[in-house]
Amino acid sequence: MRLKNNAFRESHMEKYYVTTAIDYANAPPHIGHAYEKIAADIIARYQRLTGKKVFFLTGTDEHGSKVEKAALAAGFESPLAFVDETSSKFKEAWRRLLISNDDFIRTTEERHKKVVQEVFRRMRAKGDVYKGKYAGLYCDGCEDYLRETDLVDGKCPNHQRPPQHSEEENYFFRLTKYKEPLRAWLQEAECHVKPDGRRREVINQLDDPELGDFSITRSRKSLTWGIPVPDDPDHVIYVWVDALTNYITGVGFQSDEEAWNTFWPADLHLIGKDITKFHAIYWPAMLMSADLPLPKLVFGHGFITVEGQKMSKSLGNVLDPVYLAETYGPDAIRYFLFAANTFDQDGDFSRADMVATVNKHLAMGVGNLLNRVVKLLDTHFEGTVPAVSIEQGVLDALEKDTAEFRTFMDEFEFAKAIRSIFEIVDKGNKLLSEREPWKLLKEGKLEEGGQVLVTAMTMLKRIAILLSPITPRLCAGIWDQLGFDSNIESVIFRSSEFTDPILAGQKIRNKGRVFEKLDELTENPAPVPTA
Ligand code: MSP
Repeated sequence: MRLKNNAFRESHMEKYYVTTAIDYANAPPHIGHAYEKIAADIIARYQRLTGKKVFFLTGTDEHGSKVEKAALAAGFESPLAFVDETSSKFKEAWRRLLISNDDFIRTTEERHKKVVQEVFRRMRAKGDVYKGKYAGLYCDGCEDYLRETDLVDGKCPNHQRPPQHSEEENYFFRLTKYKEPLRAWLQEAECHVKPDGRRREVINQLDDPELGDFSITRSRKSLTWGIPVPDDPDHVIYVWVDALTNYITGVGFQSDEEAWNTFWPADLHLIGKDITKFHAIYWPAMLMSADLPLPKLVFGHGFITVEGQKMSKSLGNVLDPVYLAETYGPDAIRYFLFAANTFDQDGDFSRADMVATVNKHLAMGVGNLLNRVVKLLDTHFEGTVPAVSIEQGVLDALEKDTAEFRTFMDEFEFAKAIRSIFEIVDKGNKLLSEREPWKLLKEGKLEEGGQVLVTAMTMLKRIAILLSPITPRLCAGIWDQLGFDSNIESVIFRSSEFTDPILAGQKIRNKGRVFEKLDELTENPAPVPTA
């Protein structure tokens, strides 16, 4: 197992294991999927910055009736050929959006099949699995069992279509046995489900007497596209039991002891608010049954709409992240999504707002600051940092803004964390406009002018490091122009590279604008093609 920051060798380091939901491979990715993967990436990059050894897992959920039907509808003979194609689109999208995942798991992989069957065996050996008759409603959009009371006008409220009635022999999982320990876990002082509103919602679901044992298999007669039940090939394992297990397969359960012992339990399962029940009830109950430790935190983020509307194929407003990354560059998308939205609430993506925001903050705010500083250093100091000292007050303010940034990042309050960075950007621009180093230098006041420039450089160095989890490409560009030879991704908070002052003699590299202003594009975004 190789990690992005190559930190695996250092055994004394604290670890951080972050996962995303694995996306259904029934259609290509859209911006809602991208929102979550970028968030997890921001968290992974930030945790690397804190010096932890990080493992970041994402992937695709490839079994079940929803995927099987999509494969047939797309004219594929085998669902596998279909998911091969779809999952590669997810991989490609994450590459373009600079997602730094350490592994990409596909639930059709052999390594995963073995683990799912092992979990099934463990639950059965515990006496938690029994055969029974299932008669009820199933929505394959949700891949979930519904009750009459869940329906609105006879339809699944999430998928606007009537569920199927299904009646078959299934294996059931004894969820009721775990209701009490689950309640205790959900009420522990160290919160395991966030935001708190979601935690309360889950406790209410658990308290509902109608939440009983649930079916964890489908008869092979109704579904073939799944992992067979060990010793009973007439049944396949329910897609949610299969999918949730990815979190332990991906971190080496029964295949890589070192990785498993290092990284499990997960520090964070990042998921959308719609799938909290599966992660905060079903999954911990399965782990209790299999005698495995529970994740530390499940965080349910809000949903993204596009130009104020829910995405849907019929509206033709499903946004393709590859198209967006190609058109605007990955930093613009990443920045806007998290500067403009509150992570634990619903948010929106609007192209005009994105263009206006990134032009103002990144091109004008950060880009101009860098541009002015390197140009003046070039003209008046032949691109070489002069020997000056930085006022203690400036350094103290940097530490204060950094501490604030870290507090917000630790709570996944990305928009507020970004605002803390812009405290520094604003101070930098104010410094230049108030002290007017160009005038000082013209008047021959080299020491005073140089001091202003190196102060602004010191601020830019901090801005580049703090902003790097959010806009990695832009920050690598700033780092380069400031004259650092190292890779910005190797910087950690406690390293001397983070704390050292910028040394006299360092050569800056004036390469022009680090972030080009975006145009107000008028053409309509290309909708996601159907797979
Ligand atoms: N396959 C299941 C997850 C299994 S995890 C063991 C699934 N897949 S999904 O493709 O429907 O959704 C994947 C993730 O994207 C989920 O966390 C979901 O909440 C999130 N989102 C889907 N649409 C979204 C938005 N419009 N906005 C933000 N996140 C959204 O559920």
